[in-house]
Amino acid sequence: MPGMRQLTTINSWRLFSLLALATTAATCLGLPFADFRSAHGMEFIIKHSVRCALPSFLLAYTASSLATLWPGPLSRWLLSNRRYLGLAFAYGMALHLALVGYSVLSFGNRLNPTVTALDLTAAAFLLAMTLTSFRWFARRLSLANWRRLHKAGAYTIWLLATYIYCSDVRYERDVVHALVASAFVAAWLLRVAAWAAQHGLIDAVKRPESHRP
Ligand code: HEM
Repeated sequence: MPGMRQLTTINSWRLFSLLALATTAATCLGLPFADFRSAHGMEFIIKHSVRCALPSFLLAYTASSLATLWPGPLSRWLLSNRRYLGLAFAYGMALHLALVGYSVLSFGNRLNPTVTALDLTAAAFLLAMTLTSFRWFARRLSLANWRRLHKAGAYTIWLLATYIYCSDVRYERDVVHALVASAFVAAWLLRVAAWAAQHGLIDAVKRPESHRP
């Protein structure tokens, strides 16, 4: 497929720049629906900013599983660019946190203490993962601890988003949230299938390599 082949020639910081640009543009499309004069008016753009960042997260989260289950140029490309997918997600979440920061400073924190603690934990993991994706910070960790940090962080962020969207589906019965929640559950099932393949429980094809800098 020529389009696919062209896509796989976009790598590293160029890919990050394009994803950051796309995330910014998608987030800005929500601005006409935002009202910066009240906490309630901010809700839409805060939620919209997360939705614009999450595709990059889901790709980074499933890259190694896709490479295990369906080895090929596209999944190899995703895996080799996993760091930049993760950084693009971090960029999108920086927009989310900036909007949340503005809302909290202007109108106070409307989240309950449990959700605030979960959000801050996920944000701390995201910050640690972002910093340790750079060699200067990464070399302060052993390879085993680097892997532990990135695995724990990826699962914490996955768990928080899945929890939020599944609760929304339960209480609001919203179709968009149901689709997003299904994408998160499907992403986790892919990781389970890749784990099963690596342990010989289903047909294993390839064990992906680590991308520690
Ligand atoms: C990596 C860290 C974080 C992740 C993965 C995350 C994820 C999410 C998700 C999935 C939503 C729901 C979006 C939707 O309904 O479409 C959301 C909303 C929100 N988040 Fe975050 N968040 C993070 C950090 C934070 C932090 C640190 C705060 C502030 C304490 C925060 C405050 C909010 C607020 C105020 C909303 C809107 C809730 C509402 O109005 O119902 N988030 N976040």
